[in-house]
Amino acid sequence: MTTQAPERRRRPDDPVHRAREREVEQAHRAGGPRPNPLREGLRLERMPEPCTMIICGATGDLTERKLAPALYNLMLGGFLPPEFSVVCFARREWSSEELRAHLLESVNEYSRNRPAKPAIWESFARGIEYHRGDLKDPAAYVELSRKLDRIDRDRGTAGNRLFYLAVPPSLYPEIVAQLDRAGLAASGDRRPSGAKRGWTRVIVEKPFGYDLASARTLNHEISEVFDEDQVFRIDHYLGKETVQNLAVFRFGNGLFEPIWNRRYIDSVQITVAETGAIEGRGEFYDQTGALRDVVQNHGLQLLGVFAMEPPVEFRAEDLRDEKLKVLRAMKPLSGRDVATNTVRGQYVSGWVEGERVGSYRDEPEVRPDSETETYVALKLGIDSWRWAGVPLYVRAGKALTSRATEIAVQFRRAPLALFQRAGVPQVEPNVLAIRVQPDEGILLRFGAKVPGQGLQIRSVNMDFRYGSSFAVDSPEAYETLVLDCMIGVGDPRPGPRRMGKWRWRPAPFLRRRQLGAAGGR
Ligand code: BG6
Repeated sequence: MTTQAPERRRRPDDPVHRAREREVEQAHRAGGPRPNPLREGLRLERMPEPCTMIICGATGDLTERKLAPALYNLMLGGFLPPEFSVVCFARREWSSEELRAHLLESVNEYSRNRPAKPAIWESFARGIEYHRGDLKDPAAYVELSRKLDRIDRDRGTAGNRLFYLAVPPSLYPEIVAQLDRAGLAASGDRRPSGAKRGWTRVIVEKPFGYDLASARTLNHEISEVFDEDQVFRIDHYLGKETVQNLAVFRFGNGLFEPIWNRRYIDSVQITVAETGAIEGRGEFYDQTGALRDVVQNHGLQLLGVFAMEPPVEFRAEDLRDEKLKVLRAMKPLSGRDVATNTVRGQYVSGWVEGERVGSYRDEPEVRPDSETETYVALKLGIDSWRWAGVPLYVRAGKALTSRATEIAVQFRRAPLALFQRAGVPQVEPNVLAIRVQPDEGILLRFGAKVPGQGLQIRSVNMDFRYGSSFAVDSPEAYETLVLDCMIGVGDPRPGPRRMGKWRWRPAPFLRRRQLGAAGGR
């Protein structure tokens, strides 16, 4: 484990941080402590420098559902400095007052702490501004630059800027080039004008391109403008407490690691099942599908943390390297494998949780003859000493009957059919279920003797639940990730949430022609 700054416990209702506390925090940073990339279940406070977050494409779904609630909760938890400011950049004809009213509604609807507390909200809202403009218009960026300089002067944000590209990836190159032209991309001394100090960072989300070639092109276009240490490519699954805790579960306990291999494990199932349909994202989803939307990022991240070797140190880059080895050792699916080891599906009309759901092809902005998969299941293998011969099933889908993200590990059966000889039916194999969400926790299933005369065996559960064990509310993934980016976790090296030089091999899975051969609707 790396050394870590002594951290203070959260004080939920104190949004105003004293200057002395900030100095202590900055002193820790100056001393170069490396934040622990996978913190244990309890949330500890880390505070970023004053900065402005600029959300490009701020009137979309992501800001409403995830970013606004995340920022509010960070403010509520006392994780943001009072100078923290937000600029929402979008085309809609809104005033700053209208934007604030909209964001307040979003917080009241989607935040894990709701409704918003008036005092906290007012303090937070004072730092929120709207910037109306077309993301393709150079003049809008010149104006944005002036606005940011003014905010630096008025609110003391010290030239620190975090750009969040809340737009489809097809717009990334345009925005990045515009930021460059307006002199907004460089950090500190390299800035052509305005504030000469402070850092500039940019957050991009998946899907990062459509295939390997387009991901490389996108990387190239971004790297023409930004240095690698300015770019944060995030996968929100890595911000989930349960995912962060998976490494702690494996490597922080002596019990599990010795049996975490092909000798004891029969198979692994990684499931990301959602009851929600595509919820108004027809245009995006129809070009993307379940494989690119969920499996190649969230699913493979879960698989990476599940299957990786213990890192030499518990540092961001070591964890990233170990996950990378897992991906490199994955057997590519080619030719016949695609037909035999993959399944694709698309939802048709029916009922989910008592509500009528229309057919995927009838969703707005979805092509009526669309072949895009809303469900996909893959049988994968990892060619390594630890995992050779163990099938790993990864599946994801929309509009399914229940919502569950989990990793289920099925162990080999006991070698001796001892009880069968005594007339007892075969005992079920042990299962360890790591529930990522909902009902976060870990369950171990094993056989036990039913009390009474005679011999009967039933499977029973040993169940750990985060809610009852820790009695604290876990932060949402976006809270953790945005805070990490403001602090610059892993900086200047790529960390586990920064997928910079990933040489993933999506081609065997992603070719439309091959997927088509695997069967459709
Ligand atoms: C996003 C996908 O990355 O993850 C969505 O684009 C999906 O389609 C979502 O619904 C699932 O995230 P979570 O945190 O709700 O499991």
